[in-house]
Amino acid sequence: MLRLETTDIYAGYGKIEVLHGASIRAAAGEIICIIGPNGSGKSTLLKTVFGLIKPTKGTVSFDGRDVTRLDPEQKVPLGIAFIPQGRNVFPSLTVRENLEMGGTALNSEKAVRLAIEEAVEAYPLLKGKIRERAGNLSGGEKQILSLARADMVKPGLILMDEPSIGLSPKMIDEVYEKIGEINRRGTTFAIVEQNARKALSIAHRGYVLDLGKTRLEDTGAGLLDNEEVKKLYLGG
Ligand SMILES: Nc1ncnc2c1ncn2[C@@H]1O[C@H](COP(=O)(O)OP(=O)(O)OP(=O)(O)O)[C@@H](O)[C@H]1O
Ligand SMILES: [Mg+2]
Repeated sequence: MLRLETTDIYAGYGKIEVLHGASIRAAAGEIICIIGPNGSGKSTLLKTVFGLIKPTKGTVSFDGRDVTRLDPEQKVPLGIAFIPQGRNVFPSLTVRENLEMGGTALNSEKAVRLAIEEAVEAYPLLKGKIRERAGNLSGGEKQILSLARADMVKPGLILMDEPSIGLSPKMIDEVYEKIGEINRRGTTFAIVEQNARKALSIAHRGYVLDLGKTRLEDTGAGLLDNEEVKKLYLGG
């Protein structure tokens, strides 16, 4: 069964329509990525999947259920997490407090404590910084913290906008390694990326979104090998 499917989405901001027929699919356990030029609507598509924007046409389904009209607060308990672009942490809270926020969906204090212990084991980078203010972390560490926080409730789907933006090549590799690890434990990912080469290299499938419409769909490897994609998104 498909974990995520959007069919022919039309959406935008007020009278401005940004998406004019965006269709993506992710099977359970897949990593899909969405690449495309600036302003093509990639972030808007993720926001629509998460319920921050309601489409004027088209549907979003999750595990076979129509969730098009649900709000984010209704989607989170179903197992959908969203990591928006930018460093998605509470800067004045400590790393531990940030993780506690991720555990609010868990049903007891004990479950939260256990999940934090697990996160600290799974993300050694956070271990030494557990009392540090999140605002003091490096960009890459913040990105790892937002992944760790999303991962605490073992969501079925993580939507992630530009995980590699502003990071050093070494940190990009670390963030993507974590994404791979979380994925191998069963979480599906839909990732929007400027860094098309990196995203396509780990994605099972990829999409090119152009002017609000999905233009190309193939395996990650297939898109990496596509002449048009090479020319436009991989620097020749
Ligand atoms: N809050 C908003 N209100 C009005 N227009 C918006 C808003 N957010 C984005 N837009 C417009 O929607 C279009 C698509 O934006 P979006 O952020 O989805 O593109 P993107 O593909 O993510 O671009 P980028 O690669 O620069 O992140 C752009 O023309 C943008 O100016
Ligand atoms: Mg964007």
